[in-house]
Amino acid sequence: MKPSKEQWSSRFGFIMAAAGSAIGLGNLWKFPYITGTSGGAVFLIVYIIFLILLGIPILLSELAIGRFAGMNAIDSCRKINSKWGFAGAFGIIGAFGVMASYCVVGGWVIRYIINSVTDSRMSADYFAEYSSKSFEPLIWTAVFLLLTCAIVTGGVSGGIERVSSVLLPILIVFLVGIMIYSLTLPNAIEGVKFFIVPDFSAINGFSDFIRIVFNAMGQVFFSLSLGMGTLITYGSYLPKDNDLTSSTITIVALDTAIALIAGFAILPAVFSFGFEPTEGFGLIFKTLPAVFSRMSGGTFISSIFFVLVLLAALTSSISLLEVIVAWVCTKTKLTRTWAAIIVTLLIFIAGCFASLSIGAIPDIAIGNMSLFEFFSFFSDKVIMPLGGFFICILTGYVWGIPQASHEISNGGRLKFRMRKLFGVTVRYIAPALIAVIFAVSLFGI
Ligand code: PHE
Repeated sequence: MKPSKEQWSSRFGFIMAAAGSAIGLGNLWKFPYITGTSGGAVFLIVYIIFLILLGIPILLSELAIGRFAGMNAIDSCRKINSKWGFAGAFGIIGAFGVMASYCVVGGWVIRYIINSVTDSRMSADYFAEYSSKSFEPLIWTAVFLLLTCAIVTGGVSGGIERVSSVLLPILIVFLVGIMIYSLTLPNAIEGVKFFIVPDFSAINGFSDFIRIVFNAMGQVFFSLSLGMGTLITYGSYLPKDNDLTSSTITIVALDTAIALIAGFAILPAVFSFGFEPTEGFGLIFKTLPAVFSRMSGGTFISSIFFVLVLLAALTSSISLLEVIVAWVCTKTKLTRTWAAIIVTLLIFIAGCFASLSIGAIPDIAIGNMSLFEFFSFFSDKVIMPLGGFFICILTGYVWGIPQASHEISNGGRLKFRMRKLFGVTVRYIAPALIAVIFAVSLFGI
């Protein structure tokens, strides 16, 4: 197996691409609505604890594995131990699962941009009507996938890095603008309180608490793109002199900052106009348009907001597609372009079923979940935590902390101050936490 020859062209470009992967629908769509349905500030506290105990050590491990091996997710894990390719395989399966629902939401976002600009039919009921249509959502899903595919065919530094380096800074500047506007609305303080002042009385017993904990864990994995080989793949394009610890901290800090800014941009506006934050996955598609329609200048702000969501979604979807494309390119003789086209087509087929399962053909279901919900549940609540668990075991026991630290410290040239903490979290705390939360919430043990 040849190590891949592609590389990021600069540290800034890598950080933008990796943070671009992390920052996506997870921050702008999922984080505000899950906070809304999971008790506000209590969720936020659990989320931040998991960022430290799970997010940082797993992200650092993935980058280290990728840079050490310099190959796609499966072969990188295999290079550490020939029996461990399966740890990277979670990434390929997971990326497919995430993409199948991600592209549907990406399609909704494009439709909402058009609606915002033409100022048409943005009442709260519009979402149910639109998402249950059979044909039209498929077109916008295809457009979203085409954009993703076009960037990935441009390659690592020419496509992914270049696009992320432009889009991410734009996103940050405009989102901060919307946040400032939202915080100055009348009664915005209620939303701020909901977001940062914990109300423990809102938790209905132990099982409700477990639900919040499970949601927070899934959200950490989803938001940081963990347990799926994305950061192994992106790490494989890193030059040997990159400081992995500081890159990890920068990526986590940027991702968390954007989630918090999205929370401060959305929740105060929702409260200010007298809506409930508990809408669920329709929060930015049902509640927000209603909020925008009551704001002065709402059409303009709505257009900017949905464009930002699209930019964020694209910098993430390219990383999802890249995980699969990087693997297909080494396993077959296909060129990057053909690999990207074929994988995109397969994702589109899965995405069509996911989209139809939401309304037009509700029979496409697994258990009591629509196929759309199943894809998203299976990837961020099952595949990603399991992938993360195995990454911890691979790094902590199979590869070993001394070897991993050797890679992280660039062969001893950098000081790895967090080494002790890293060892303890990767070997004990993170795997134990994932196993316990997983068992309690899935099997009720
Ligand atoms: N982190 C991305 C988001 O927040 C989603 C994602 C998950 C991307 C897994 C890559 C891998 O939207």
